[in-house]
Amino acid sequence: MQPTSAAAGPVPFKDIAAVAVARRPVAEEYGDVVAALPSRLYPPQQRWREYQRRFEPRAGDVLLASLPKCGTTWLKALAFATAARGVYPPAAAGGDGRHPLLRLNPHECVPFLEGIYLDEEEAKLDAAPTPRLMSTHASYPNLPASITEDDRCKIIYICRQPKDMAISLWHFMNCSKAKTSSLSDDQWESITMSLSDVWESIREGAYLGGPIWEHILGYWNTSKAKPDKVLFLKYEEVLRDPTKNIEKITEFIGQPFSDAEKEAGIVESIIELCSFEKMKASGANSTGSLHMMANEYPHESFFRKGVIGDWVNHVTPEMADSLDKFLSAKFYGSGFTFAE
Ligand code: A3P
Repeated sequence: MQPTSAAAGPVPFKDIAAVAVARRPVAEEYGDVVAALPSRLYPPQQRWREYQRRFEPRAGDVLLASLPKCGTTWLKALAFATAARGVYPPAAAGGDGRHPLLRLNPHECVPFLEGIYLDEEEAKLDAAPTPRLMSTHASYPNLPASITEDDRCKIIYICRQPKDMAISLWHFMNCSKAKTSSLSDDQWESITMSLSDVWESIREGAYLGGPIWEHILGYWNTSKAKPDKVLFLKYEEVLRDPTKNIEKITEFIGQPFSDAEKEAGIVESIIELCSFEKMKASGANSTGSLHMMANEYPHESFFRKGVIGDWVNHVTPEMADSLDKFLSAKFYGSGFTFAE
């Protein structure tokens, strides 16, 4: 489906025709980078290093950043629905019921930069009309310098209370394991995590391979120092007051709602389109799977409960209390607190 109005983007990443491009040999162009890598690093990480050098931001680009299981999928839907409302009007703005989010999973609309480079879809990103929406799980210091050192690409970060994040990851691993066929039993065995493994990975600073407090504080501190560069959202606050947070997004990306749009009910329309119930029930998300970051994920695995505080059903008060205390020491003095 092609956009119909004058505004060019964003468009769903999946709808951009694949563009054939010859990959430049790593050894020639990035020989020094590759030579500096530890020998155990394998090609995906080499490609991420290449990408850190090569990524070229455009004015209007918006990067959605998060730790896994903190509401990435939802933020993708909300940001896509708001930023693309000129191209794809939601129902209240005269939409014809063929909104991309009704036929595509949000991850098919907004790609992960990590996935683009792993899956060698860089040329597709180059072909995407401006403005572009992208996402990442990378920490702030691990972003390409072209993103952090100039103002063309804005960043929206979403965090979530870590006890719910951990429960969500644990369910996600089990659900994906049951439904994904791209990994062998041995490969699954090697990445299987019990609930206490997930809990411990947070304390050990190994959730997504790094300390979550550093991930969060990298974006938090930048949002305080440069509020025009990073908008910092909390999953719980978006759930409790979606209107206020969607308005924050539109103002941050320079597309505030007009009075006419508000009167027409466009905010309510976007909330409804992106609501947990609607997205989970949609055929686009209840069937099929998506290829992402070199793996295959069932669409439905991104929609479980969508609530605040499900951790009480899974861990003891002692486990919760000990993680809370551990993390509050890590954030001490930063001004950052999780929303409960
Ligand atoms: P739960 O497992 O607690 O239900 P991510 O997108 O970063 O992988 O995060 C997934 C979490 O966000 C899951 O949490 C999922 O159910 C929840 N989620 C997905 N879509 C949502 C939506 N539209 N509204 C609220 N929560 C949503």
